[in-house]
Amino acid sequence: MTDPTAPTADPDALRGRALAALLAARERTALLTECVDEADLTAQHSPLMSPLVWDLAHIGNQEELWLLRAVAGRDAMRPEIDPLYDAFEHPRSERPTLPLLAPGEARSYAAEVRGRALDLLERIEFRGTPLTHDGFAFGMIAQHEQQHDETMLITHQLRKGPAALSAPDPEPSGFAGPAEVLVPGGPFTMGTSTEPWALDNERPAHRRLVPPFFIDTVPVTNGAYQLFISDGGYEEQRWWTPEGWAYIREHGVTAPLFWRQEGGMWLRRRFGVTEPVPPDEPVLHVSWYEADAYARWAGRRLPSETEWEKAARHDPVTGRTMRFPWGDADPRPEHANLGQRHLRPAPAGSYPAGESPLGVRQLIGDVWEWTSSDFLPYPGFVTFPYKEYSEVFFGPDYKVLRGGSFAVGEVACRGTFRNWDYPIRRQIFSGFRTARDATPAERSQGAL
Ligand code: AVJ
Ligand code: FE
Repeated sequence: MTDPTAPTADPDALRGRALAALLAARERTALLTECVDEADLTAQHSPLMSPLVWDLAHIGNQEELWLLRAVAGRDAMRPEIDPLYDAFEHPRSERPTLPLLAPGEARSYAAEVRGRALDLLERIEFRGTPLTHDGFAFGMIAQHEQQHDETMLITHQLRKGPAALSAPDPEPSGFAGPAEVLVPGGPFTMGTSTEPWALDNERPAHRRLVPPFFIDTVPVTNGAYQLFISDGGYEEQRWWTPEGWAYIREHGVTAPLFWRQEGGMWLRRRFGVTEPVPPDEPVLHVSWYEADAYARWAGRRLPSETEWEKAARHDPVTGRTMRFPWGDADPRPEHANLGQRHLRPAPAGSYPAGESPLGVRQLIGDVWEWTSSDFLPYPGFVTFPYKEYSEVFFGPDYKVLRGGSFAVGEVACRGTFRNWDYPIRRQIFSGFRTARDATPAERSQGAL
């Protein structure tokens, strides 16, 4: 009999992966919090966001809670600060009024927690409890920090004033492939039971029957989206759900967030710089309502979450579900635009090495893709390790986004990863691609 608590990977390899993931996340956190001054760190740049210094100390506090207390059984280092950094105790708009740790204190707290966490990592056995098995808690904490790094990047984008961050631009794509591809009907295995650091909502693996459908080869571009705008898309109620129509009317929404028109030209503000909207780049900063309306205007619809994952992971030759569109290998720079390497999505059609077997591109990285689906548990879902990660959000209030943006860290990026937000949200790095049912004639072709 094999030992069910034995790690599935070599412990030294796991230790190395966990260490690399924690160090990469902290390097990025430093980049995001050292490029602005103390006043900027403690200011609230938008009521939708926390001050950056809150994210910084919250990152340290979660690491203390899960690695030092839950795994190592230590006492709280500063029990009085726990409630300040509990995301459920204070809404974001309230956080600037709290007696938060000052930037210097927040940095040294997070650094002290990290020092102890790395000591623990050197001697931990990756077995015995679900939290330590395969280094799960270390992977979860590295992902948590990367998720807050993306949150902090959103705060940087909302921040007024001159640019604090910079990065090289991606290359042009020169893509000239087909607009859509047929994903054949039939069963497919969604989710995962084997990915060691997958979070609770991605589990377990389960079979789903998916009818044949077509999906866009690349995400919807700014150029295509501009046609929707110039065709009066925001003025015609018939493209919108009742909730979406009410929302855009009440809030005067007439274009993606950060866009404005000047002398007939569309401009956008991106990390402190105003520039012409590049037509060949995936559209960014649209709400679910806008994505849904665009798709209806185009005579199409959003893909469901299941369709999205089948397009991204199904290998029609072997019938197998892969980890990523390109196969089972961890992402490399030629596969996808991740980790804030660029401060923008790459032009539509980029990353040929990252395409799926059916030729769908940019499923991973660039922009989070809205799907038509509500955020719901998979059959057999078990909360782990805490209800406030996924369970309290399940239901019809949130829509699922897939694939990850240019701001997603590698450790937080998987073919199975599920993100969710309210359908009104547009400050997030959100875009979309469209889909349609296969017609009866196309169905019989696809069944050949
Ligand atoms: C999965 C991105 C919706 O940021 O609200 C961070 C991730 N959970 N800390 C969020 C998260 C707890 C979460 N999202
Ligand atoms: Fe958090």
